[in-house]
Amino acid sequence: QKCWAVVPAAGVGKRMQADRPKQYLPLAGKTVIEHTLDRLLQSGAFQAVAVAISIEDPYWPELDVSKHPQVITAPGGKERADSVLSALKSLQGQAAEDDWVLVHDAARPCLTASDIHLQIDTLKDDAVGGILALSSHDTLKHVDGDTITATIDRKHVWRALTPQMFKYGMLRDALQQTEGNPAITDEASALELLGFQPKIVEGRPDNIKITRPEDLALAQFYMEQQA
Ligand code: CTP
Ligand code: MG
Repeated sequence: QKCWAVVPAAGVGKRMQADRPKQYLPLAGKTVIEHTLDRLLQSGAFQAVAVAISIEDPYWPELDVSKHPQVITAPGGKERADSVLSALKSLQGQAAEDDWVLVHDAARPCLTASDIHLQIDTLKDDAVGGILALSSHDTLKHVDGDTITATIDRKHVWRALTPQMFKYGMLRDALQQTEGNPAITDEASALELLGFQPKIVEGRPDNIKITRPEDLALAQFYMEQQA
């Protein structure tokens, strides 16, 4: 099967408190989203990358990568899941139902080619697909108000990262069927709700999501370390 990439990039970046959406902030010589797209394109793993962009976004057309022959632009939606569904629909007619799609946040610019290839190699024969994830180093507590009610067994808890890799047709149908459900915060949760059991693939801790102002310095540090 072929592989396609989908990049939700239509968020406003509220927690970043910057003058523009965080995907357009400068990081190590280019914008955050340019790093993300360059890494996906340079991996050589994808037929094309479908990017969900907010309709009033003035920054996207200014970037050279918006005209890249392997980049398709789709209108963003209200929530992340809506943006992902919109980008999936833009691949209709090109992607086959059984092709793989890797959904990756625009706000994760430190993704490595090694993680992309590890995920594809690990999951390519799976019936459902799965996500990159990280274990927790800290002890985890279940809390009611301010009181600890239990200590959670860490071996059963993983932190969900992206890319999240699923079959094109299955993911589109799952997101369509769960549209508007606020519990759907990633692709895996949409499939879980329908009874599927996605796999996890252990990812790298440097694959951070730029969320708060201090994350830009951390991403810059990781990029220098990678180079
Ligand atoms: N995203 C999207 N469409 C939305 C909301 C989010 O495409 N309606 C994208 C963001 O651009 C980001 C990814 O989904 O690349 C992960 O979302 P998040 O980190 O929450 O980004 P924002 O929603 O922009 O940030 P915040 O929640 O702080 O406002
Ligand atoms: Mg958000």
